[in-house]
Amino acid sequence: MAFVLAAAGSAVGLGNIWKFPSEVAQQGGAAFLMMYLGCCFLVGFPVMVAEIAIGRATGKNPVGAFKALSPNPIFPLVGLWGILCGVMILSFYTVVAGWSLGFVFGEAAHFLGFQGAAEVLMVVGPGTKTAVFAALFMAATTFIVSSGVSEGIERVAKTLMPLLIGMMLLMIAFVVTREGSGEGLAMYLKPDFSKVDMSLVFQALGQAFFSLSLGMGALITYGSYMSRKQNVVESAAWVTLADVGIAFLAGLLIMPAMFVAQKSGIQIYKDASTGDGVAAGAKVLIDEDGLVFTVLPQLFESMGSGIGLVFGVGFFVLLSMAALTSTISLLEVPTSYAIDELGMSRKKAALMFGCVITAIALVISYRLSLIGTFATIFSTIGLPVGGLMICLFMAYVWKTRHALAEMEAGYPGIQSSLFAKFWPPLMAVVCPLLILTVLVLTLIQQFQ
Ligand code: PFF
Repeated sequence: MAFVLAAAGSAVGLGNIWKFPSEVAQQGGAAFLMMYLGCCFLVGFPVMVAEIAIGRATGKNPVGAFKALSPNPIFPLVGLWGILCGVMILSFYTVVAGWSLGFVFGEAAHFLGFQGAAEVLMVVGPGTKTAVFAALFMAATTFIVSSGVSEGIERVAKTLMPLLIGMMLLMIAFVVTREGSGEGLAMYLKPDFSKVDMSLVFQALGQAFFSLSLGMGALITYGSYMSRKQNVVESAAWVTLADVGIAFLAGLLIMPAMFVAQKSGIQIYKDASTGDGVAAGAKVLIDEDGLVFTVLPQLFESMGSGIGLVFGVGFFVLLSMAALTSTISLLEVPTSYAIDELGMSRKKAALMFGCVITAIALVISYRLSLIGTFATIFSTIGLPVGGLMICLFMAYVWKTRHALAEMEAGYPGIQSSLFAKFWPPLMAVVCPLLILTVLVLTLIQQFQ
């Protein structure tokens, strides 16, 4: 279980609860959900198996792993690109994680009657408060990674997941009784395929990679710590299911909550053409970065002060912990690279990257538009590009038959399994072609 818990800890995070519902709300609801599920199972899962297999076979960081398996000089560059993506993703991720941490104290202050403090703590905007909490979050992450990826993560993940799922189920049960929730549920669950266009598929693919922690070598790194007694394919399946399941629940909570909040006068969408006015079904979210931070506090408020306090504080504690198990994996990638390839000590490596990332996060804290820019370049584009290269490496350089032989350790019957039939063509043709098509068509659309 140890590997599954740590990898699920990496996968489940702000991507599921902060980003996914906003994407769904922005991209037309159920149509996005369908495309997202398709991307996770058809592309994400096979790539995850590839990453873990590469990591476990070599016991190395993303750069070292590619070097160990082939003399081809291009692929270590793919590892370096992954490390760059990880550093840049963590720089904005920690800003959002800092908001979540601030909301733990903000919700407490609000329900205990310290309105002044609550107003300061529950701001999702540029400024010093955002910078301070982002720095705090990075300090905690750096401290944990510098003392070694420990059993602590598994223990946290083990209690975190059931608590998170339990709490979200209770909140869903509450929200569906409220006026307006039906509209949100319908938008989330009734697909309108006329909404599917290239930009939706592009976002869904990027979201799948981001949410499953794929494309930048995080699971190569975690795979390098995995025992040969473990079943790679089964582990990847559990991580994928846990991650997709929690994202689905987050949508089931936040989509209805959004429409409930709208009924009570909070503006969620603005009219794309005129730039103002409330309009259910209009195109543009008012504040994509802040959806969980506006809609959920409203929900806690409506629970009454006692229950609201427990849920408000509890939810943001869990969200912050989920974010922490993800930031740890994001920092572990460059750290393990610097330890193995540059001969640095763990403490020095973690501290160096921790400081660089904190510095970038401080800049982002005052210029929040960078979150969107970085997310597009290093996540929505960067991670699928990494994934594409991993597929090509697996199919044409290391070769899937060698990987399958390696995966026999922990999965004795793999050669005659259904997986062994489907996975090689997925790596060689289906996944690379899909990723390439989506990226190229999106690029072409940009220039039209
Ligand atoms: N999967 C994490 C989330 O959904 O919040 C984010 C993430 C972690 C992306 C680690 C990439 C990564 F390597």
